Amino acid sequence: MASSSPYFLYLILIFLLPVYVVAQTYQKIELGSSLTAALNMNSSWRSPSGDFAFGFQQIRAGEFLLAIWFDNIPEKTIIWSPPIDGEKLVEEGSKIQLSEDGQFRLTDARGEKLWDAQLTGSGNVLYAAMFDTGNFVLVSQDSNLWESFNQPTDTIVPTQIMKRDSKLVARYAEKNYSRGRFRFLMQGDGNLVFYVTSFLWDTVDLINRAYWASNTVNQGYQFVFNQSGYIYLADNNGSILYSFTSKETSSTNYYQRAILEYDGVLRHYVYPKTTNGITRNPMNWSMQGSEPSNICDIKETQGSGACGYNSYCSFGDDQRPKCSCPPGYSFFDPDDKMRGCKQDFDTLGCNGNHDADDFELREMANMDWPQTDYAYFKGVTEDWCRQTCLTDCFCPLAVFKDDECTMKKFPLSNGRMDPGLGGKTLIKMRKDNSKNKSPDKATLWLVSRLSYWKRRMLQPSRANQGTSLRSFPFKELEEATNKFKEELGKGACSTVYRGVLDTGNKNMVAIKKLDKMMTESELEFQAEIRAISKTNHKNLVQLLGFCNEGQHRLLVYEYMSNGSLASYLFGNLRPSWYQRAQIAFGTARGLVYLHEECSNQIIHCDIKPQNILLDDSLTARISDFGLAKLLKTGQTRTVTAIRGTKGYVAPEWFKNKPVTIKVDVYSFGILLLELICCRRSFEQDLEDENQMILADWAYDCYEEGRLYLLVQEDEEAIQDIKRVERFVMIAIWCIQDDPFLRPTMKRVSQMLEGAVEVPRPPSIPSVNV
Ligand SMILES: *[C@@H]1O[C@H](CO)[C@@H](O)[C@H](O)[C@H]1NC(C)=O
Ligand SMILES: *[C@@H]1O[C@H](CO)[C@@H](O)[C@H](O)[C@H]1NC(C)=O
Ligand SMILES: *[C@@H]1O[C@H](CO)[C@@H](O)[C@H](O)[C@H]1NC(C)=O
Ligand SMILES: *[C@@H]1O[C@H](CO)[C@@H](O)[C@H](O)[C@H]1NC(C)=O
Ligand SMILES: *[C@@H]1O[C@H](CO)[C@@H](O)[C@H](O)[C@H]1NC(C)=O
Ligand SMILES: *[C@@H]1O[C@H](CO)[C@@H](O)[C@H](O)[C@H]1NC(C)=O
Repeated sequence: MASSSPYFLYLILIFLLPVYVVAQTYQKIELGSSLTAALNMNSSWRSPSGDFAFGFQQIRAGEFLLAIWFDNIPEKTIIWSPPIDGEKLVEEGSKIQLSEDGQFRLTDARGEKLWDAQLTGSGNVLYAAMFDTGNFVLVSQDSNLWESFNQPTDTIVPTQIMKRDSKLVARYAEKNYSRGRFRFLMQGDGNLVFYVTSFLWDTVDLINRAYWASNTVNQGYQFVFNQSGYIYLADNNGSILYSFTSKETSSTNYYQRAILEYDGVLRHYVYPKTTNGITRNPMNWSMQGSEPSNICDIKETQGSGACGYNSYCSFGDDQRPKCSCPPGYSFFDPDDKMRGCKQDFDTLGCNGNHDADDFELREMANMDWPQTDYAYFKGVTEDWCRQTCLTDCFCPLAVFKDDECTMKKFPLSNGRMDPGLGGKTLIKMRKDNSKNKSPDKATLWLVSRLSYWKRRMLQPSRANQGTSLRSFPFKELEEATNKFKEELGKGACSTVYRGVLDTGNKNMVAIKKLDKMMTESELEFQAEIRAISKTNHKNLVQLLGFCNEGQHRLLVYEYMSNGSLASYLFGNLRPSWYQRAQIAFGTARGLVYLHEECSNQIIHCDIKPQNILLDDSLTARISDFGLAKLLKTGQTRTVTAIRGTKGYVAPEWFKNKPVTIKVDVYSFGILLLELICCRRSFEQDLEDENQMILADWAYDCYEEGRLYLLVQEDEEAIQDIKRVERFVMIAIWCIQDDPFLRPTMKRVSQMLEGAVEVPRPPSIPSVNV
């Protein structure tokens, strides 16, 4: 009885077949032969030259693949495996047998049939033959009843021909031999086509979309890989309709194969044969050509493209497509990167809960999803594009390029990244995404809870004016701050402490203790507090409550996790130019609100980086507003001036002129220069004393057209020097001596955001410090 014996048990016969044009050598396999998949034993039938073998190849421990492979090279590269649905790997003990009655059958260890060769033609199988070409054939008296060459898997080799109605099916992954997404068809109508199937449900062989076609309907006859290494589509007279190859590669010197790989590309590989025992090292398969040449570029009107939905394809130096997820997304299956990506956070939500403030945009360059536009705008600014996408619940991302803003919709398809694309991709992400996932980081988590708590606390008051804020007993605040233990900051008339309020959730707050309370009456304090409490803007630090008990006057604010702009801007880690610009916008918007939009106009009087706080998403939040009036009542102007801070104070403070909202504009101008340059308005220890006063130096640089000096070593800002110039010009307008020349904050905000032109500013006199 035949066993799993290797080839040497068989006689190697060399036949010359006069019927065929080409002489071929093969090894004859007699009826009754079989091979068994066994551990550490590569049982196979080799062709006479040893170039190819048919048998079981061990893929993993205990798992085998019935296959034909190149046997003379260490890689043992597979060119054929049987068309079994689903998992193709078989267990140990599985058997391939050429029975005495001519059946060629694969069975598992229990003898259950897994696959058999479907014979065509007349007569009985007399024997099987493993040819030196790589073809495995079941032979009858007068014809071949079955050929592996006619049942290709994903590979063809020289002398193999794909006739009409044949196909290659890519495997699932490089080392997963199950059926994958891609097909290459020599169709019955003569067209040669690459198809991709539905990427999610591939149990049925549904073909949906072509991504490449030869457009040779009625003309194409067969797809040929000839002995000289040429791969082409021919018509029925042998004329070439489409050639995949540009140069000859002799099969005498090279092993060759063309494979439809799991990434959807048909690649021609060659491998040098050793001649006269001379081994050229290192030897492996090298690519000779491919089609499509860049699969990332394929454009399907439907379907996901080369990679899955919501991912993008980049074409590497290795000439292979790579599928990646944009920031904020992750693979459905990290082991299967072509399956696409999902958003890491809850859906954007168009159910009325979409709040632009909950989202931020992450920037990427040179990316596009060209098939998924739902809105397009021309002649707009990047800030406009950002705001519009943030506000629109349909917008998962926008692409901004030159002055064009394109918004994309789900699912994102045909994504690619290519240096030639240009432009900026702005990807929307939920702000506190990562934080919700780490509840142990109570601090971070708090901030989001706080807004809920704040709403709850303020809600009854909306209907019931007069009790807008919660009034805290002093004792509660004393406990909340652990007897005023942790100091967060100190001002001229107040000290700020960190506190935790126990209102069901432990909410962190900042509690400001006014120590030089100058208000004349309690009534006035209450009135003022009420005015502040009516303010509500995303660029203001929200007042949550107060305490007014005996001598004690305290204010309870939201806690800002990222501290003050001063520590951020002048600290070790310089914020990016983009973030600095965002902080400038936010601060300006907050001031517009205080000056023009809230019910009682509020002049801040002390705008400086220490009073701009940053929340967990680095949004600028103005603090300490509304206190100027509280503190200045009954005081002379000089005392009030203490409120302002040296360097940021408008000259009219000292000139006994009326103090208007324009003092804030002045201070904002100085702040803006600090944001641009990442340095303080006054620095003493500089080598060049012309640079000591920032306002003067910035003006000089502007005048001399040497703005780059202000943003040295800040590549991002230098790239954006036009905007730097605009910002400097706005700052110069803001710090004009004459308050009437200074623009309103509304105007400043419009100029910053590029909505209106910035005229050339007048000169400024040297600032005295
Ligand atoms: C079987 O083939 C594999 C892969 O070519 C090789 O690593 C292994 O050594 C072979 N085992 C035997 C017993 O020949
Ligand atoms: C190959 O991929 C298919 C489809 O995803 C999967 O079902 C199968 O488990 C994979 N096989 C291996 C060996 O990873
Ligand atoms: C293979 O095809 C090319 C292009 O048609 C041709 O030049 C060459 O002679 C062919 N080689 C063989 C061995 O038929
Ligand atoms: C190819 O053969 C067809 C008939 O089968 C004929 O009509 C046609 O002219 C031939 N083309 C060439 C280029 O010889
Ligand atoms: C082929 O060999 C080269 C040189 O050693 C190596 O860089 C390359 O990665 C190899 N390719 C493969 C597919 O192994
Ligand atoms: C700002 O806060 C976020 C989250 O709270 C944190 O990840 C980040 O490091 C902070 N940045 C600075 C500059 O403190």
